[in-house]
Amino acid sequence: MAVSIRAAEPRDAEAIAGLLVQLGYPADTAAIVPRLERLGIVGDTVSVAEVGGKVVGLAHLQVSPTIESDRPVAKLGALVVDEASRRQGVGRALIAAMKEEARSRGCGVFFLTTSELRDDAHVFYGQIGLQRTGRRYGTTLSQ
Ligand SMILES: CC(C)(COP(=O)(O)OP(=O)(O)OC[C@H]1O[C@@H](n2cnc3c(N)ncnc32)[C@H](O)[C@@H]1OP(=O)(O)O)[C@@H](O)C(=O)NCCC(=O)NCCS
Repeated sequence: MAVSIRAAEPRDAEAIAGLLVQLGYPADTAAIVPRLERLGIVGDTVSVAEVGGKVVGLAHLQVSPTIESDRPVAKLGALVVDEASRRQGVGRALIAAMKEEARSRGCGVFFLTTSELRDDAHVFYGQIGLQRTGRRYGTTLSQ
């Protein structure tokens, strides 16, 4: 099965909204284009995976300068593969593309955070060679 990865475009908005539902972040299709525009302005990468011309996966990469190092770090944001297309190498292909993007932009670290509840994702990350290196603490903020 051939997976191709390309930059997300406004025409992908409906597919992206559907994938975000599966990730647990429901969004109106109309909200996606302005989000892509905002992410483009700050230089983030949003990519989609296609199989047979259909969008089946989504990944977001954030590259940031840090005070700890001269090299920027790359943080994987959203990662999701359509339920009907899982276990076919799409997630692995998206991670490989994001790591390559991070390398090409000079990043010294590639990392992500994930909920304790995402058991499948934890197995996936271990299987594709990422190490568990920390914990995440957080809270929601009121307006
Ligand atoms: C996690 C996720 C992105 C993986 O995508 P995927 O396309 O199914 O992953 P791949 O097919 O590339 O899997 C690569 C390897 O990871 C392991 N793996 C992936 N999903 C697994 C699962 N559910 N259970 C056990 N191992 C799994 C396998 O070793 C697999 O190789 P194999 O199929 O040859 O055995 C996908 O399950 C998903 O979108 N989950 C819901 C959203 C989510 O949790 N996103 C991550 C947020 S941090």
